[in-house]
Amino acid sequence: MRKSFFRLRKLMPAVSIGVLLIVGTAYAARLAAPVVNHDRGFLTPAPVPVAPKPVQDLLPVSSIKSPGLSPMPVSNTPKPAYNTPVISPPPAINMAAPQNNSDNSDNTIPTHMDPVQNPGGCSSCHSSGGGQKSCFNCHGTVKTSIREEARTDLESLRMKPSVHPFWTTGGLYARYQQKPQANPLAPRYVSCLDCHNPHEDTPANPTRGAMGYSAIGELDRAQAEYEICFRCHADSANKPAGAKNLRLLFNPMNPSYHPVELPGRNMQVPSLTKGYTTASTIKCTDCHGNSDPSGPKGPHGSDYAPILARQYNTTDGPESPEAYALCYGCHDRNSILGDQSFQAHKFHIVYEQASCHDCHTAHGSTTNSFLIQFDTSVVTNGSAGGPLMISYQAGKPYCYLSCHGADHGMTQISGPMGSMKWPW
Ligand code: HEC
Ligand code: HEC
Ligand code: HEC
Ligand code: HEC
Ligand code: HEC
Ligand code: HEC
Ligand code: HEC
Repeated sequence: MRKSFFRLRKLMPAVSIGVLLIVGTAYAARLAAPVVNHDRGFLTPAPVPVAPKPVQDLLPVSSIKSPGLSPMPVSNTPKPAYNTPVISPPPAINMAAPQNNSDNSDNTIPTHMDPVQNPGGCSSCHSSGGGQKSCFNCHGTVKTSIREEARTDLESLRMKPSVHPFWTTGGLYARYQQKPQANPLAPRYVSCLDCHNPHEDTPANPTRGAMGYSAIGELDRAQAEYEICFRCHADSANKPAGAKNLRLLFNPMNPSYHPVELPGRNMQVPSLTKGYTTASTIKCTDCHGNSDPSGPKGPHGSDYAPILARQYNTTDGPESPEAYALCYGCHDRNSILGDQSFQAHKFHIVYEQASCHDCHTAHGSTTNSFLIQFDTSVVTNGSAGGPLMISYQAGKPYCYLSCHGADHGMTQISGPMGSMKWPW
């Protein structure tokens, strides 16, 4: 596998010269033939001569340890033209939020106000006085006659390895209560009511009428789902150590961000799949959700930290569809490992067994394009001197950095599994 990978690369110049010869001969023959006007449309444009790539200067194959890789499926679809990535200018500010969390244009009766769904009416919540437990009366694990009214069991999600800690919250908390997030000394909490308004939610819009937060402060009604999350994960005073202000990272003025607030700035993302395009927006809960597809949807709890909808290994190890299932849910694995954009994706991910997390952040970057944010526990400045940097510029893949102590030279990447030289 490994040998053929490098042999194929060595063969590339011969193959491209061959192709040039064939195309060139056909073209000359075509020109010699009498020109019939309507026929000219079939002529392909004159081939642009391509300088053959220099033969790769690779370590001898024998010196490369075989990682024992299973054969990798490679896409047969031709690569789209991908030269210099196209980054759009920053969007105009004050654009309308694309997701409307307040919308109930279909006039659905809110679930808990519907006598069919909730025959107990107001008193099913207002007489129990059991705080958040009143939600678990129906959304709990134990099924008694009244509890059978709701099909969704939120209580058992507390056993998941990664959770929103809503059951440690003692009371139900009122909507307009002063939030401990404003006071750095108060403990952080989260309750059902921070994300749900039980008078308003509908099956199509479970968070309808919940409060939110944006750059202008607290919002009585969130317009978009991310505004709900920003109450506690943005400017909040008492975030845990290491937690970032997500409002700053998802800001559409940044060089790159996952398109939660507005469509993204990179106009060429060839790996996008499952109907996603560069015009799409996504939600926090497309990534943060229940890892069990048959359980209740939403960012309540998951087998994968931090409350991830699918597996995502942030430490280095063998590549597999599962290891980066979160990303492969929207980015085609064949495209990424087929090097449709970054020419050394496969080299790093498959051969060096690097995690996406070594190079990419999943949220946004205030400094770098392409969601590049090197994991500084793996990637450090190189020892070679020169203009040290740990960033990436399109078309200038000079990384003066060091991964796991192995230096990248000016144009050379070397690691425990082998080395590679630019141009690839
Ligand atoms: C599914 C549970 C549930 C049902 C059913 C329910 N409520 Fe409530 N209600 C709540 C909770 C929880 C709060 C506290 C909300 C808050 O402060 O954010 C609340 C708050 C209120 C308040 C205080 C003002 C406010 O809006 O915060 C009133 C008044 C009220 N409910 C009336 C009713 C009436 C009348 C009905 C029946 C038509 C009803 N509720 C049905 C859960 C429920
Ligand atoms: C009397 C029973 C009952 C109580 C108490 C109750 N629910 Fe529900 N809830 C339901 C039913 C029935 C559904 C419909 C879906 C299902 O069966 O799980 C539902 C659905 C939901 C949904 C999904 C969106 C929707 O509108 O279909 C949310 C969110 C929700 N409940 C939140 C809460 C919260 C928060 C509380 C506590 C304040 C609460 N519920 C208390 C019966 C209840
Ligand atoms: C009322 C406050 C509040 C709101 C609103 C809120 N969260 Fe949280 N969230 C918490 C608390 C508290 C934790 C526990 C860790 C901490 O303190 O950050 C947490 C933890 C998390 C974690 C796990 C972090 C980790 O390091 O394990 C994720 C992911 C998360 N929230 C995503 C979201 C998303 C997505 C939303 C919006 C749909 C949201 N949160 C809304 C308070 C909130
Ligand atoms: C494309 C997938 C994706 C989207 C969209 C996304 N996250 Fe995350 N989030 C992750 C991953 C992966 C991690 C953990 C590893 C990392 O940081 O790269 C994470 C980490 C977190 C954490 C814990 C670390 C921290 O900085 O506090 C919180 C909280 C969180 N996300 C909340 C959110 C919120 C809120 C949104 C929406 C505004 C959101 N995420 C959107 C994938 C995503
Ligand atoms: C951090 C925010 C947050 C908290 C806290 C939270 N939820 Fe949710 N919940 C959501 C979001 C967002 C969705 C919608 C997910 C989707 O549609 O993909 C949801 C969906 C639901 C659903 C519908 C599930 C389904 O499969 O249709 C129910 C029921 C529900 N929540 C009940 C609760 C109850 C009860 C609590 C408290 C014990 C709670 N939630 C706490 C954010 C939250
Ligand atoms: C060694 C660093 C590195 C690793 C590891 C890495 N990437 Fe990248 N990735 C890059 C660079 C650099 C670019 C920008 C390429 C360019 O110039 O357009 C990029 C671009 C991308 C793009 C945008 C263009 C496209 O292909 O659609 C996606 C998506 C992407 N990477 C996903 C991933 C995923 C998923 C993983 C893990 C399975 C991963 N990357 C691992 C460095 C890396
Ligand atoms: C829910 C779908 C979804 C998931 C899951 C997802 N992405 Fe993306 N990603 C997108 C979309 C949509 C874009 C296009 C944004 C644009 O045009 O700038 C994108 C763009 C990117 C880019 C290019 C950004 C730029 O500005 O150049 C990178 C890199 C990337 N994703 C990496 C990842 C990684 C790594 C993961 C896993 C942690 C991941 N994505 C998970 C939807 C997703």
